Amino acid sequence: MTRVATLTIDGKTIEVPILKGKCGPDVLDVHALYQETGLFTYDPGFTSTASCSSGITYIDGDEGILLHRGYAIEDLVEKCDFLEVAYLLLYGELPDGSQRESFEQSISRHTMVHEQLRTFFQGFRRDAHPMAIMVGVVGALSAFYHDSLDIYDAQQREIASHRLIAKMPTIAAMAYNYSRGCPLPYPQNGLTYSQNFLRMMFAIPAETYQINPIIARAMDIIFILHADHEQNASTSTVRLAGSSQANPFACIASGIAALWGPAHGGANEAVLTMFGKIGTKQNIPEFIERAKNKNDPFRLMGFGHRVYKNYDPRARIMRKACYEVLGQLNINDPLLEVALELERIALEDPYFIEKKLYPNVDFYSGIIFKALEIPTSMFTVIFSVARTVGWVAQWNEMMADPAQKIGRPRQLYTGYEARKLPKK
Ligand code: SDX
Repeated sequence: MTRVATLTIDGKTIEVPILKGKCGPDVLDVHALYQETGLFTYDPGFTSTASCSSGITYIDGDEGILLHRGYAIEDLVEKCDFLEVAYLLLYGELPDGSQRESFEQSISRHTMVHEQLRTFFQGFRRDAHPMAIMVGVVGALSAFYHDSLDIYDAQQREIASHRLIAKMPTIAAMAYNYSRGCPLPYPQNGLTYSQNFLRMMFAIPAETYQINPIIARAMDIIFILHADHEQNASTSTVRLAGSSQANPFACIASGIAALWGPAHGGANEAVLTMFGKIGTKQNIPEFIERAKNKNDPFRLMGFGHRVYKNYDPRARIMRKACYEVLGQLNINDPLLEVALELERIALEDPYFIEKKLYPNVDFYSGIIFKALEIPTSMFTVIFSVARTVGWVAQWNEMMADPAQKIGRPRQLYTGYEARKLPKK
C-alpha cells in the first residue's frame, strides 16, 4: 500500500505519493504537482530535493556513513585498489579475477590520447590553471569521438566510460608537465593506475623513475576517497548535461567545471592556502573568529558539508593516512599540527557544534598531496581524475533508465510583468 501525504491548497486536497528507498529518507513524489495544482515546488540549492533515484552511493549525513554499492568506504579503502572500486561503481559488484583482468586491460588500452590532442596544450599559457586546461582538453575529446558514439548503445557507453577513466590521468599529467615546461608524458601500461599516474606526473625523460610504493598506495587511497559522492554539485551537473543526450566527454567537461569551485572540489586547494595564511597555531583563534563573523566572507575551508552533519568518514581516513604517509616518508610538516589544532579548537566551539560543521574530505587531503610533492594547483585536478569514475557511473545509470528525460527545472518569477517598449 503506497503511503501518501495530503496537501490542501485553497480548500482543495490532493494526495502526494511517498516513495520508499532501500535506506535513507523517503521522498514525496511531486512530479504531478504542477499539473494537479498549478504550483511548483521551490528549493534553491536543492536542500530538500532528490533529483533522481540511484543505487550507486548512499550517504547518511547524521551518522557519517558512506557506502558504495553497499560497501563501507572504510572497508573499500582497506581491502581494494582504485580500479576495483571503479569496477564496483560502474557495474554494481566487485570484480572477480577474470573481470578484474579484462577491465584493467580495457582501461590500459585507452590510456593514450590522440596525438593531435597534444597540440591543444599549445594554446594555453604555461601559467594557466590546470583546471582550465582540464575543462578545455577533456571537452575537446568530444571532437575525437562524436561521430562514433550512440549513447543509447550500452556497449558504446561502456567504451566511452573506459576511455574517460583511462585518459583523465594522462591529460592531468600532461597539464602538470605543460605548466612546468616539461615534455608531455606518455603512459606505461605495465604499471598500476596510480603508479602510471605518478610516473607520468613526475618522471623526467632523462632519468629512470622509481615508483615509491608508499606514495603509490597513498595515491590509490586518495583516488578511492574521491571516486563518487551521491548527487553533489558536479555529479548533478554531469547528469543534467547528459539528460540532454550530450556527448559524454562534453558532460564530463561540465562536471570538471562545476568541481573547480572553492565551495566544492576547489576547497582542497583553498584549504592549503588557508593553512598558509594561518601560518602558526597561535593565529588560529583569530581565523576561527573570522569564520564565525557574518560580516567577514572568510570561511573555514575544508569544514562543513551540505549532507554530513557529522564527521565526513573520508576526512577521518584521510587524517589517518596523513600520519601514516608523513611518518613513512619521514616528513614533519608543521601544517599538520596547524590542521589538528584548528580541528580541535573548532570542534569545541559552540558555533561549529550548533551548526554541525565538521572537517570534510578536503580538510586533510592537501597535507597528503603536499607530502606527495603535488603542487596546490593540481589538487582539484586529481579530485577530477578520481571523480570521473563516479561521474561516468552516474551518467550510465541515468542513460540506462528507460524513463530518462531531459532535466528542465522551473522558477519563481520575480521580474517585470508584461510591459510595452517606450516610444522612440
Ligand atoms: C565537497 O556535496 C558533496 O558531496 C561535495 C563533496 C563531494 O565529495 O562531492 O563532499 C566535496 O565539496 C566538500 C565541501 C568542500 N567545501 C568546503 O570545504 C568549503 C567550506 N564549506 C562551506 O562553504 C559549506 O560548508 C558548504 C558549501 C560545504 C556547505 O554549504 P551549505 O550546505 O550550503 O551550508 P550553508 O552555507 O548554508 O552553511 C550553514 C551555516 C551557515 O551559517 P548561517 O547562515 O546558517 O548562520 O554554517 C555556516 C554558514 O555560514 N558555515 C560555515 C562554514 N560552512 C558553513 N561557517 C564557517 N566556515 C565554514 N566552512
